[in-house]
Amino acid sequence: MRNPMIATLITLAATAAAGAAVAASSPATLDLMPMPRLVELGSGDLTITAGFTVSIDGGGATPRLADGVQRMLRRLSDRSGLFFPPSTFLELTGRPAAALTISAGRAGALVLGEDESYTLRVAGDGMLLTAATDIGALRGLETVLQLVTLDERGVTVPMVRIEDAPRFPWRGLMIDASRHFMPVEVVKRNLDAMAAVKLNVLHWHLVDDQGFRVECLAFPRLHEAASDGSYYTRAQIREVQIFAAARGIRVVPEFDLPGHATAWATAYPELASLPGPYRIERSWGIFDPTLNPIQEETYRFLDAFFGEMAALFDDEFMHIGGDENNGIQWAANPEIAAHMAREGYADTLAMQRYFNERMLEIFTRHGKRMIGWDEIFQEGLPKDIVIHSWRGREALAEAASRGYAGILSNGYYIDLMQPTDFHYLNDPLPADSPLPEEARRLVLGGEATMWAEFVTPETVDSRIWPRTAAIAERLWSPGSVTDVADMYRRLDRISRLLEEHGLLHLKNRPMMLRRLCQCRDLAGLETLLGVVEPVKVYRRNALRKDSPHPYTQLSPLTRLVDIAGADAADARAFRWTVERMAADGFATPADIDAARQLLLRWRGNHATVVETLRASPGLAEMEPLSATLAETAAIGLEALELASSRLAAPAGWLEPRLARLEAARAPVGEAELMVVDPLVLLACLAAGPEGAAADGCRLRAGTGAAGDH
Ligand code: ACM
Repeated sequence: MRNPMIATLITLAATAAAGAAVAASSPATLDLMPMPRLVELGSGDLTITAGFTVSIDGGGATPRLADGVQRMLRRLSDRSGLFFPPSTFLELTGRPAAALTISAGRAGALVLGEDESYTLRVAGDGMLLTAATDIGALRGLETVLQLVTLDERGVTVPMVRIEDAPRFPWRGLMIDASRHFMPVEVVKRNLDAMAAVKLNVLHWHLVDDQGFRVECLAFPRLHEAASDGSYYTRAQIREVQIFAAARGIRVVPEFDLPGHATAWATAYPELASLPGPYRIERSWGIFDPTLNPIQEETYRFLDAFFGEMAALFDDEFMHIGGDENNGIQWAANPEIAAHMAREGYADTLAMQRYFNERMLEIFTRHGKRMIGWDEIFQEGLPKDIVIHSWRGREALAEAASRGYAGILSNGYYIDLMQPTDFHYLNDPLPADSPLPEEARRLVLGGEATMWAEFVTPETVDSRIWPRTAAIAERLWSPGSVTDVADMYRRLDRISRLLEEHGLLHLKNRPMMLRRLCQCRDLAGLETLLGVVEPVKVYRRNALRKDSPHPYTQLSPLTRLVDIAGADAADARAFRWTVERMAADGFATPADIDAARQLLLRWRGNHATVVETLRASPGLAEMEPLSATLAETAAIGLEALELASSRLAAPAGWLEPRLARLEAARAPVGEAELMVVDPLVLLACLAAGPEGAAADGCRLRAGTGAAGDH
């Protein structure tokens, strides 16, 4: 340690790198995600051959389980190239001595809290999968498929004993089909992927300001006038539910009310709080149209509407939305304002509470339980509603402490383009939660939310996957499973396995690059994608808001920012390497070399890619970022040589370089370069005592090295 400041930098870096270091030195875990509750690894493997057979028995040997086994065999055959004879697929019951024996106790029900546990034993005489329900057996089949390894030994499964059950009963993915419509095939392939990582609730956000996406017999103007023709027919809604049920997945529809109501108002302006006319909203944000809560006509309409939807959707729950009612229309309507004054409603939420009570009557009459965003939580509502927390984890704890069940989505907003580890370490019920036991039981789980302002059917998979697999692990696996480096290692494999379902998260990336550049050689663009991520949280819309071309529903979502993912892999590898070097005082030549190789590639990339960028109208905006990568990589190379050879940096070396690195943080094309933090750390380390004194280093040591958590 050359001086105390550097010591601080190194300590902070060591903390951040601990996850990586632990994984590297701990025994390799199986590549499973979500990680089962108990895994006992034996020695040796079971080889799967073309003679592989499956048998199912027990009261849970349902058509659903048989279909699940057939899908499993199809995937196994396709992945391995093994030719299973037709009998392998078709003769599943009563077969003696099968290679995989499945025993399921009973048919599972698609209800909250159904038994999804299973045990799996892989031994020399074959595999035995046991579950209380056929749904549990389906979960176990996904584990079997993840256990299969392909290598020079052939197709094998390790000897292992697994006991598994979910930590939380509500493990969901919300898909917003309003902002951009998501055709049935998008929903289906994502249901397959959900099943692969043991998620069990599809929350289908069907109605918002930008479109009404479900056919309605009673009020056809809803889908006719407020969908641009893009909506799910009733037959498609049934088809998706059947598809989901076959995978043990519940489908909870959301019809957002009383705010986010532009689509309702477009079709039936008389429902709104001001006269209109209205048109489907084309831009992003919070808008004024809100249903009129003081006219009986609203409730008559909604009673008929929800009666129809209650019959169309099977699940016990329907989601009422309830979020982000800005109250502007209610205040602007003299009758509503007078009503609120007369009733002594202090604010919008008090008025909305009345609306919610009326809605709850309607839901109850139609045999449904209500779930809504955390704005619906008001003391006094019956305790069988479920609170969906999106604004903060506190709302969930608060609801639970008052006896209300809830699920968490705050921290699982995958549309905000935060890295996987951010979501992964977000626990609905952290170990230090002060909630008493009975309140803890009310924390039912969580949902990843795929809001669709910035996704189309072409890109949506790449925003959901693979990050949602890590969220699925958070919701299924024990809370103690938190090793970030091991998670990323397993995630990489799971991401590739997920392609089996036809997901486009990996496949569309080169296609989208080719479309923009009209070129064959994508290497330089891929190098950029290795270090670039979209801007985070709600910045993307904000960055264009005042431009001549703000975002609308019809904007192209095909640019580099749409191709870039939330976990730029080379940037993460570089950050971890620099943090390790900082922690071990540049003692590991392999790390120094790995960092040097990345920096050399980045420094040289601009020269190779600049012509491609200039020749591509859709990519030209990225030229400054590409140039910045080259310049900052050059600084990084200087810093690496100084720090690793323990040469003192010349006086005055640091400040201009820090200034250049800081400037490199500016977004370009709504994307940002993710290598700045580790480069700053490297420069500070290289600068020795000058680095110790520099403000830029002190600041960065706090945020860069200590990470986001
Ligand atoms: C929400 O994100 N407005 C629920």
